[in-house]
Amino acid sequence: MMRILGVFENVSKVVWKVLNKRCNMNIISMDIILIFVFAVICAGLVEGTCPSTCSCVDNSSGSHVNCNSKYLGRIPTLPNDTYHLNLHNNNISTIKAFAFMNLPSLRNLNLNNNKLRSLVSYTFINLTNLNALYLQSNKIQLLERNTFINMTKVFYIYLQGNNISDIEEHALGNLTSLTLLRLTANPLNCDCSIFAFWSWLIERSSKYYIGSSATCSNGTLVKSLQSAVLDTCHPDNCQCFNGGKCVAMGYELNCDCIGQWTGTFCQESQCTSYDCGFGDCYIEPVNGTAQCLCDDIYVNFCPGKLCNFYYKVM
Ligand SMILES: *[C@@H]1O[C@H](CO)[C@@H](O)[C@H](O)[C@H]1NC(C)=O
Ligand SMILES: *[C@@H]1O[C@H](CO)[C@@H](O)[C@H](O)[C@H]1NC(C)=O
Ligand SMILES: *[C@@H]1O[C@H](CO)[C@@H](O)[C@H](O)[C@H]1NC(C)=O
Ligand SMILES: *[C@@H]1O[C@H](CO)[C@@H](O)[C@H](O)[C@H]1NC(C)=O
Ligand SMILES: *[C@@H]1O[C@H](CO)[C@@H](O)[C@H](O)[C@H]1NC(C)=O
Ligand SMILES: *[C@@H]1O[C@H](CO)[C@@H](O)[C@H](O)[C@H]1NC(C)=O
Ligand SMILES: *[C@@H]1O[C@H](CO)[C@@H](O)[C@H](O)[C@H]1NC(C)=O
Ligand SMILES: *[C@@H]1O[C@H](CO)[C@@H](O)[C@H](O)[C@H]1NC(C)=O
Ligand SMILES: *[C@@H]1O[C@H](CO)[C@@H](O)[C@H](O)[C@H]1NC(C)=O
Repeated sequence: MMRILGVFENVSKVVWKVLNKRCNMNIISMDIILIFVFAVICAGLVEGTCPSTCSCVDNSSGSHVNCNSKYLGRIPTLPNDTYHLNLHNNNISTIKAFAFMNLPSLRNLNLNNNKLRSLVSYTFINLTNLNALYLQSNKIQLLERNTFINMTKVFYIYLQGNNISDIEEHALGNLTSLTLLRLTANPLNCDCSIFAFWSWLIERSSKYYIGSSATCSNGTLVKSLQSAVLDTCHPDNCQCFNGGKCVAMGYELNCDCIGQWTGTFCQESQCTSYDCGFGDCYIEPVNGTAQCLCDDIYVNFCPGKLCNFYYKVM
């Protein structure tokens, strides 16, 4: 940045000298000067210049970009050596995944007082040098898995005053330096869906500042939820067969079955009790009833209970 400004100064000196020397300058030399100036500006853009509405101060650490209260609706294009980024009090409602991918030097990111409603997976990936992340007073509802990962140097994450009800498993991963996670004033949903976050929190319970303020929507501290109660939510208590998925239903995990499968663990199908003799049972996909698929040679011993009767007699 300094380098670009320096070049700019030199260019304007040259222009000034040229103008002083020959006031009868012709159009062509003026064009050449303009093209030269334009080229210098373009060279600056490739490296990423200060966003026009923001102010930037550079020192040897990098650019300190200040976009406080500028009504910005999205993250502007930034110098690739951005060190501090202040986007406090803007109008940003979404941030794309990988949005900060080209800012490896970023140490401090302030997004307090914006309109963020969600954060998607991998939003903050590559911010491996980030120290502090400020996201308070937005309207974030869900922390998706892989949202806060690989930020191995992050000390502080501020999320208070959002609308977070759910924190997915692996939303917070590999945050090896984390010492403060503030979640006050979020209505966390403390049914079985809290289990992953609760376990993560209990593992770090010796660190007082990590999530100690996380509170269920009914006012109970997440940290104080009893393992005896949450035990029913342990994934080991929910093994679903045949592609069924465990889902939190209030204070229990249940199997959500697919296709023909039913029963507590998706282990049952109408075919379980439907005898096709030598044939194969299948579930008719349109009306969902059990049907027999018969091989020609066994046709008498096959389709359904009637034939099965003959089969048994013989
Ligand atoms: C750069 O400036 C910031 C303040 O804007 C200061 O915190 C930081 O220590 C400075 N870094 C260096 C290397 O001077
Ligand atoms: C920024 O981009 C310039 C030019 O592409 C490159 O020389 C420089 O190393 C980059 N800086 C960082 C911190 O990536
Ligand atoms: C903020 O963004 C919303 C849309 O997301 C827009 O309707 C509103 O006018 C913006 N407000 C300002 C002050 O720019
Ligand atoms: C960003 O991180 C991804 C995955 O961790 C990595 O593959 C990629 O090279 C990184 N990109 C940059 C620009 O550092
Ligand atoms: C990010 O983390 C994943 C696993 O969580 C790891 O495989 C990957 O190498 C990490 N990327 C970087 C850039 O550290
Ligand atoms: C908070 O989230 C809930 C959905 O979980 C939504 O119905 C409600 O409108 C949100 N409140 C605010 C203030 O955004
Ligand atoms: C955590 O991050 C470090 C450094 O980027 C990486 O080497 C390691 O594989 C990561 N571990 C996990 C479990 O993601
Ligand atoms: C709040 O909800 C949790 C989880 O459902 C429950 O264990 C706790 O007793 C409730 N607290 C109050 C004050 O109702
Ligand atoms: C379901 O479909 C099969 C094959 O189309 C048909 O034979 C059977 O009668 C149907 N059963 C019902 C209850 O509609």
